[in-house]
Amino acid sequence: MTVLVTGAAGFIGFSAARALLQRGEPVLGIDNLNDYYDVRLKEARLAELRKHGDFRFQKLDVADWDGMMAVAKANPGIDRMVHLAAQAGVRHAMVDPMSYMRSNLDGHVILLEVARRLEGLKHIAYASTSSVYGDSKAMPFSIHDPVDKPRSLYAATKRGGELISLAYSQLFGIPMTGLRFFTVYGPWGRPDMAAWLFAAAIIEGRPLQLFNSGKMERDFTYIDDIVFGILAALDRIPALDAEGRRHALYNLGNNAPEDLRRFLAIIEQTCGRKAIIENLPMQPGDVVKNNADITESRRDLGYEPRTPIDVGLPNFIKWYRDFYGK
Ligand SMILES: NC(=O)c1ccc[n+]([C@@H]2O[C@H](COP(=O)([O-])OP(=O)(O)OC[C@H]3O[C@@H](n4cnc5c(N)ncnc54)[C@H](O)[C@@H]3O)[C@@H](O)[C@H]2O)c1
Repeated sequence: MTVLVTGAAGFIGFSAARALLQRGEPVLGIDNLNDYYDVRLKEARLAELRKHGDFRFQKLDVADWDGMMAVAKANPGIDRMVHLAAQAGVRHAMVDPMSYMRSNLDGHVILLEVARRLEGLKHIAYASTSSVYGDSKAMPFSIHDPVDKPRSLYAATKRGGELISLAYSQLFGIPMTGLRFFTVYGPWGRPDMAAWLFAAAIIEGRPLQLFNSGKMERDFTYIDDIVFGILAALDRIPALDAEGRRHALYNLGNNAPEDLRRFLAIIEQTCGRKAIIENLPMQPGDVVKNNADITESRRDLGYEPRTPIDVGLPNFIKWYRDFYGK
């Protein structure tokens, strides 16, 4: 029994892998360690995971067909997968579009082809995103909403991953659960996201960029809540639906949208310093608000977000200061 975790050196992959190891599960981690952000942070996360006996790691691209097939052959004991490897980020898709096609579409199909070849495979939990809802005005976003108006290539590729999963669960009977994460933050977080960008700039006394004067709302979701949701989803194989598929989708959000300006104020307060703000217009691809309807996640997964930003942000900033000695 082994759980394959893709994107294991990433923010959420590392956090999920650590939780799996802590509950005694053998984990095989895969990551291509790309340089979208500082590779030393990814390596530091892997060093943490290596402190656990049952962790193995392979540096590999999920879109490398031969490499991934070799993983399937060498590890017939993989019985579950947590698929988190992806090219993330809404804005970067305008800089390097093909990295989204390769990691999020080719990589997704190849992972499912690996799954087809693993006889003992029981379930795949995979990452999707709140970005699939685009700029929908129907709040909160429900998994029953139409999601056919993506505002970025990132959102389009992640929606593509959901549709590919639906097809594979139908064609090959692979049970799968897609998880739409909402703006995740916390210790070991991602350097391209607001919590990190704001805290780093304030601590270093640099100006920070605030889009749309901070007039945005996000369901900022703490990493521990997300990890609870991932493990609960992994442990629950979806029931067979009327069309013969075992496929489910869940929102994992905080269900409490916060004004970005309050988010920034808590960071300022925790750091004990005011931000130097450079106001910029709304960025293409960005959305004004997101808010998760978590009715089904509560009902089926027992998911209940427990960490408000007043607690989560100070936790993150403490980790950041310890990690960088600042
Ligand atoms: N962090 C969020 O707020 C958020 C929100 C919605 C969805 N997601 C999704 O959650 C997942 C994890 O995101 P994260 O925040 O941990 O990002 P991350 O960038 O920290 O982690 C992704 C990891 O995948 C690896 N990777 C990328 N392409 C790969 C490839 N082709 N082959 C192998 N490894 C590859 C990267 O090196 C990285 O370590 C992604 O699927 C992302 O789309 C994240």
